[in-house]
Amino acid sequence: MTIPSTLTTINGAQGGDEGKGKVTFEIIHRKAQYYGVENVIVLGTNGGSNAGHTIKIGKKSYHVHYLTSGSLIHGLKQYLGCDKVLHPQSLRSEYNDISKDFTDLGHRTYISSNTHITLSCHVMKDKCDNGHIGTTSKGIGPTYSAKYNRTGVRLIDVQHAIKNKNLFTLIQDKYKDYNHYYNSGKSDISMRDAIIQDIEDIVWVIETFNIVDLTYFKRVLFSRINKHYIVESSNATLIDINYGTYPYVTSSSCITSNLFSSLCLTPLDIMSLNCTFIGVVKSYPTRVGAGILPTEITDKSISEKIIEGGAEFGVTTGRRRRPGWPDCVLINYANMVNGFNHINLTRLDNLSQFDKIMICIAYLQDEESGPLSYFPYHHNDDMSSISPQYIEIDGWKDFDFTKVKNWSDLHPNVLNYIKIIEKYGNVEVKSVNTGQELGMIVFK
Ligand code: IMO
Ligand code: MG
Repeated sequence: MTIPSTLTTINGAQGGDEGKGKVTFEIIHRKAQYYGVENVIVLGTNGGSNAGHTIKIGKKSYHVHYLTSGSLIHGLKQYLGCDKVLHPQSLRSEYNDISKDFTDLGHRTYISSNTHITLSCHVMKDKCDNGHIGTTSKGIGPTYSAKYNRTGVRLIDVQHAIKNKNLFTLIQDKYKDYNHYYNSGKSDISMRDAIIQDIEDIVWVIETFNIVDLTYFKRVLFSRINKHYIVESSNATLIDINYGTYPYVTSSSCITSNLFSSLCLTPLDIMSLNCTFIGVVKSYPTRVGAGILPTEITDKSISEKIIEGGAEFGVTTGRRRRPGWPDCVLINYANMVNGFNHINLTRLDNLSQFDKIMICIAYLQDEESGPLSYFPYHHNDDMSSISPQYIEIDGWKDFDFTKVKNWSDLHPNVLNYIKIIEKYGNVEVKSVNTGQELGMIVFK
């Protein structure tokens, strides 16, 4: 029997940290069991070490940043597309942690040779200049800036330079716009030492992974028969460079349609695959860094409970996340710009602490004009005239999600919450996470 290939994308529908890694991991695990691990390929598309996905396997928690959740399944191939950016030093420590348990990690990881490298000078610039945005300080903005300014350095440039024995000159040249950071005492190491460290880490990357031509995925790994591609995007809709709350955004685009060029997939390729586009929605949105979150919870007695109960601290930077009430206008917006077949809800268990739950179903601008018909992502610094309109529903206080084995086991008030999200978010909820461990998910 000929099985057509499938492609599933997983996107964050809010401010990041929705639980994309866990959802991806559930899907790849199931597909690998069903179709065979050799027929499943995980594809990373954008971002770099700013992303942070936590995946729990048994008692152990793993953190992936540049790599995909596919790192955590033996034998599974992953391909990292050209619109990602790679910080060799961070990747080295990520690899060292994961490869203790997954020793084949390097062999089954393919990285596009067109990938731009984050150098230490980019990290330095990010730390010194981007405080007002509240970036992750991982050098993301400066690396993408260098890419688009055509002054960046790609893995392929490094490979050529190694052949021509001029790698030091190449990297040193890339540092020339960043001298002042090193001359003004902002760095604890000299520029020369930073360059030498970069070179050592870059060479390590080239020796550890398969560095392949941008079109390798298309030419070698891609087939329309019995291959199952899972696209794991980093970051999320609110921080998308085009459709997020600019300037409080990251420096790449992570909405569905933008993921494919990173992988060299054409619209015709997409049309020929059996596609499912999934949005991941945390039952309460969160943000780290600056930028609006219209339903942000200002009552500390509530927000602290959410943060503590959900361990809402950034995986990448350890920063406290800012939680908000569930926001259907935002979900509706994310669905509009991404195009989801359906959404997966995460962390409903963390709302079990509350008797009542507020759900935003509209925003009012002023008395006369009535509800806004769009998400005000461009009202960035001034949300004072916009007020979220809530409905209050009964919660599912102390409900134990670990006992939920089927959709019908969900508490009636959870089902009511889902109905409201579907109605005002304008998208179907197809699955719900019931806990962080593998297998803790139920489907409608
Ligand atoms: P995952 O994949 C949450 C946020 C930063 C900052 C802004 C710009 O884990 O959901 P950057 O370092 O990218 O230049 O920072 O974007 N940010 C994220 N927030 N989760 C992420 O990724 C993020 N990636 C970037 O906090 O506000
Ligand atoms: Mg994160």
